[in-house]
Amino acid sequence: MLRDACPDSWGQAVLQREHKLPAGTPPVRYLMLAGNDQRWGALAVGTSKTPSVTSLSKPRLAQLDALSRELRAMAEGRPAIVGTLRRRLVHTPSLGGARPKTTVRDDEGRSWLVKPRLGSDTADVPRLEHATRLWGTACGLSFAQTVLHSGDEFSAVRVLRFDRDGERRLMCVSAATLLQTEYPGGGPGEMSRWSYPRLAEELQRIGAPPEDRVELFGRMVFNAVCGNDDDHVRNHAVVYRAQEGRWRLAPAYDAVPNTAEMPAQLAMQLSAGRFDISRESVLADSARFGFANRDKAEHHLNELLTRIEVAFDTEETVLDPDWKGALRARAVAVLRKLRIRPA
Ligand SMILES: Nc1ncnc2c1ncn2[C@@H]1O[C@H](COP(=O)(O)OP(=O)(O)OP(=O)(O)O)[C@@H](O)[C@H]1O
Ligand SMILES: [Mg+2]
Repeated sequence: MLRDACPDSWGQAVLQREHKLPAGTPPVRYLMLAGNDQRWGALAVGTSKTPSVTSLSKPRLAQLDALSRELRAMAEGRPAIVGTLRRRLVHTPSLGGARPKTTVRDDEGRSWLVKPRLGSDTADVPRLEHATRLWGTACGLSFAQTVLHSGDEFSAVRVLRFDRDGERRLMCVSAATLLQTEYPGGGPGEMSRWSYPRLAEELQRIGAPPEDRVELFGRMVFNAVCGNDDDHVRNHAVVYRAQEGRWRLAPAYDAVPNTAEMPAQLAMQLSAGRFDISRESVLADSARFGFANRDKAEHHLNELLTRIEVAFDTEETVLDPDWKGALRARAVAVLRKLRIRPA
């Protein structure tokens, strides 16, 4: 859980530059240096019993464009465009993930994660992330809300933070922690712990309701159809809902189709020992997601595939025709594969 609260490669790179840290600096140093305000979940880290969680200044939604440009300049090693924004970004590197990001506050006090397009991106990744969210939501899955910002020279997606409720910081745990595994990195055999059905069992063990396991099953199938093979164990999480008094599967986030190729595998096992995208691997462990029997799981899968297919065309598109065509062709091929019953 401390690892969940620690910056990943992006935040660590920012801290390394700012504090001139040598290679091999232990993670605990990054944990201590990253501020608590933007830190993921509810943990606060510090040397006193009640570490401060307040920020000096809170970036506003109106600054999103300027912040995105500044993040991009930082990622490309260019000098500051606006010194004050650069200083703010340098001092708030605590969020996880590989891509540059920051948090802005809207007029209602809600926090949004901002992820801009980078110069090194061969595709408009923010647009793809937003389009995937629209598609996923249209087929009935629960996603963190997104808003696309696009101008002539840049695009960025903002994602509603599920670990905040106004000023309140909500407890969160990643799937990496629930599965007691590491990502990125880890030793040989680490991948044997990356598993959807195991995660489903963990959801049950921590008291999440049965529908969360069915939702997880749906996300696994959706990731297969849309080609999101970056569905690793830090891209799933649970959040504690105090009103309900229990842990719940957090909304889906960071779902982006692979921009280079149509993946044949997912990052987590769909059933024991199987990463491959096929009807059999989707269904083999369906009991662990709570389906009473194979017939019920097959019925659910068939309906889900129809919903995913219909949603692709009904959802208001934000993709350009090339991408829309490519994703449709990909979806058609995977849907066919997932519908065929083995002889
Ligand atoms: N909507 C959200 N609400 C709260 N926390 C989030 C949300 N989206 C992402 N996070 C947290 O921030 C981390 C980084 O975000 P995200 O996965 O979107 O970034 P990324 O840089 O694209 O990641 P990756 O390294 O997987 O490519 C996540 O691992 C998760 O802990
Ligand atoms: Mg991620």
